[in-house]
Amino acid sequence: MLMRAAITAVAGYLPDDILTNADLEQMVDTNDEWIRSRTGIQERRILKDPTKATSDMGAEAVKELLDKRGIHADEVDLIICATVTADMHFPATANLIADKVGAVNSWGYDLSAACSGFIFALTTGAKFVESGQYKKVVIVGADKMSSIVDYTDRTTCILFGDGAGAVLLEPTEEYGIIDHKLHVDGTGANFLCQKAGGSLHPPSHDTVNAKEHYITQDGQPVFKAAVKGMADVSYDIMQKNNLAPEDVAWLVPHQANLRIIDATQRRMGLPAEKVMINIQKYGNTTAATIPLCLRDWEDQLKAGENIILAAFGGGFTWGAVYLQWAYNV
Ligand code: UT7
Repeated sequence: MLMRAAITAVAGYLPDDILTNADLEQMVDTNDEWIRSRTGIQERRILKDPTKATSDMGAEAVKELLDKRGIHADEVDLIICATVTADMHFPATANLIADKVGAVNSWGYDLSAACSGFIFALTTGAKFVESGQYKKVVIVGADKMSSIVDYTDRTTCILFGDGAGAVLLEPTEEYGIIDHKLHVDGTGANFLCQKAGGSLHPPSHDTVNAKEHYITQDGQPVFKAAVKGMADVSYDIMQKNNLAPEDVAWLVPHQANLRIIDATQRRMGLPAEKVMINIQKYGNTTAATIPLCLRDWEDQLKAGENIILAAFGGGFTWGAVYLQWAYNV
C-alpha cells in the first residue's frame, strides 16, 4: 500500500493589534481606495510587543494545533518552520518553537522560500512521512513581516502583516498529499529581497542608513511574474493530474494581491466561491497565508475534496501542491 502524508489538523495565530488602511493614510502618502483597488487589503495584524518574535507566533499556532489534535508535544518527530523573518539568523526558529511548545523529542529546521515557504515546507515534510520514518511532522509558516517593513515606504508597507499558521502531517493510506510542482528562478532575486544583513552585505551603519535591512520590492516585475507563475503552475498541476475545474473543490492561493489570485482562478476555470480569500483581513503574511486560509475555512472542508495550494514569492519561488483533504470537522 502507498503511504501518503495527510494534513490531520490546522491552526494559526494572529496578533491582536490591527493596522488599517486609515492608519496607513496617517503614516505615508496613500489612501484606502488605492490600497483596496490595487491589492484587496483592508487591514493587517501587527505583533507590537517588542519582546515577541516569529517563534512566539509559531509556538502559539503549534500549541493550538496539538491541542486540537489531542496529542502531546513530545509525540512530535519533526518541526519545519518556513519563514523569512527568523528570530535570529541562528539558531533556527524551528528550534525555538520546539523549545517553547515542549517538543523535546523533535528535531527541526527552517526553510527559506519567502511566500512559497509553506508549500515548499509542506512538500518536504510530506517526504519524511511518506518514507515511513516519521508519524507526526509539524509544518509552520510564520512571519513577523513588521520587523523588516519600512513604514515610510508606501510601496511595501501597505502590503504586509504578521501571523503564523501550522499543520500536522500524519501517515495515511487514503486521502493526503498527492502531487507538487515547485520552482525557483534566481534571476528574480533582486526584484524582491532584503538587501543587507546577510553575508553579502553584513549589517553596518551604512546599510542601516541606506535602509537596506528592510524589504525592498520592484512591484511591477514581481506582479507580472507572479500572475504568470502562479496561474501557470496551478493550471499545470490540474493537467498533470487530469483534474477538470469541476473536480477541484478549493484553490488555496497565497494572499499577496487579489488581482494575482483572480488571474489564477480564471486560468484554472474556477468559480469565485471555490477560492479562499482572506487578504482583506490579514494582508500578506508571507509563509503564513496558506495555513491561515486552511484554518479559516476548516469547517467547510470535507474528506476527499480535491484542493490545490498555490504560491509565488521572492526568489523567485513558486509552485502548487495537489492534495485530497483528509477529515471532516
Ligand atoms: O508575495 C510576494 C510576492 N509579491 C507580490 O506578489 C507583489 C506583486 N506586486 C504587486 O502586488 C503590485 O505591483 C503592487 C500592489 C505592489 C503595486 O501595484 P501596481 O498596480 O503595480 O502599482 P505601481 O507600482 O505600478 O504604481 C502605480 C502608481 C505609481 O504612481 P505613478 O508613477 O503612476 O504616478 C506609484 O507611485 O501608484 C503609486 N503608488 C501608490 N499610490 C498610493 C505606489 N504605492 C502606492 C500607495 N498608495 N501605497
